[in-house]
Amino acid sequence: MTYNGKRILLGVSGGIAAYKAAELARRLVAAGAKVKVVMTKAAQEFVTPMTFQALTGEKVAAAMFGPGSEPLEHVALGQATDAIVLAPATANLLGKMAAGIGDDLLTTILLAATKPILVCPAMNCEMWVHPAVQENVARLQARGLTVLPPAAGELACGATGYGRLPEPETILEALAKLVSHQDLAGRRVLVTAGPTHEDLDPVRFLTNRSSGKQGYALAKVAWRRGAQVCLVSGPTLLPAPHGVERVDIWSAREMLDAVLARFPESEALLMAAAVGDYHPTSRSEHKMKRGSQELTVHLTQNPDILKKVATLKKKQVVVGFAAETRDLEVAARQKLEDKGLDLIVANAVNRADSGFAVDTNEVTIIGRRNLVVRLPLLSKEEVAARVLDQVAALLPPREGGGG
Ligand code: PMT
Repeated sequence: MTYNGKRILLGVSGGIAAYKAAELARRLVAAGAKVKVVMTKAAQEFVTPMTFQALTGEKVAAAMFGPGSEPLEHVALGQATDAIVLAPATANLLGKMAAGIGDDLLTTILLAATKPILVCPAMNCEMWVHPAVQENVARLQARGLTVLPPAAGELACGATGYGRLPEPETILEALAKLVSHQDLAGRRVLVTAGPTHEDLDPVRFLTNRSSGKQGYALAKVAWRRGAQVCLVSGPTLLPAPHGVERVDIWSAREMLDAVLARFPESEALLMAAAVGDYHPTSRSEHKMKRGSQELTVHLTQNPDILKKVATLKKKQVVVGFAAETRDLEVAARQKLEDKGLDLIVANAVNRADSGFAVDTNEVTIIGRRNLVVRLPLLSKEEVAARVLDQVAALLPPREGGGG
């Protein structure tokens, strides 16, 4: 994920999770953001401003008045930024925000802020479920602020429950949406990712080298751009992307059922999965024993999911992927025609840094009416962004006007 020069104001209030905000600041800077930290007085009891200054290269703002304070910072800081993230947001900070109190630099900045705000509460689990806190959270959400609920786990006070500051990765994902262009707002996007497993017996299966990375990148980037994303995933080691509904499947036939069930309500389908073309004709009920020197396995063809989808297609944009080791564009164009696709993304899989399992991909996007977009080697998220640009351009206008 890249924040490429985005200006982020990180508000830190006084809870034990303030120490985790230092890692968040570091990760934001590493992702290319320009980070300005504002600390409450209580936050400075947990971490020093020097820590954040060293990590961000920016002077930390902490006081409305006195040495080090700048005139009108309380107005300017919440406006001269792309987004604000409050991590951790204590129960006290939530209460002040909900009541419209501005009695220090951070709360005053928040009153004058004009940019999107992500609130990341962290506190004791009993505090989190207190009706006053929950009412305050509901009020902030009703005002359009995004609240990332705390994660469950062991808390600093020794209790276990909901109250932990979510991991930096989750906060970075949620924040990325706030600074992304919402050109897919409300669009229903269906993505497939990963391999399929075709069982021979209870312990063995046929599969391929897909890691799911390209499909997961598509799901993440579509969500950031405002889409409602359903990710039908074969077995992978990847965590479910934040905000995305993930449906886990095992075999090609399960993927077919999952895709067909969701396709009619979807506006775009992106099939990045490497679907097994065959499954063993019979699955042994028990583990197959080592027998004679040779074993013959009979295979039956799996259904072609994209071909089935083509028969149901109305206004949906349907995108296939093609992993090829030779004649890349010719083979991909053939699949575009055969499977009745709007776009096909051809990726070279005969180089070590492209295709299966790596973090980068070199693709050519081929469409109808002579569309050919040859891209250099990019991260899989950048590839996803470029593919989604083409999808966004093909989506019919939304009923009722927008988008
Ligand atoms: O998961 P990663 O490690 O990140 O790797 C990404 C990838 C290389 C797997 C991905 O970018 C990719 O290219 N996926 C498609 C792999 C492929 O070669 O598919 P195919 O040529 O077998 O099929 C073409 C298209 O038809 C694909 O969109 C596929 O999902 C679909 N298909 C295939 C078989 C089948 N029975 N039904 C299908 O719908």
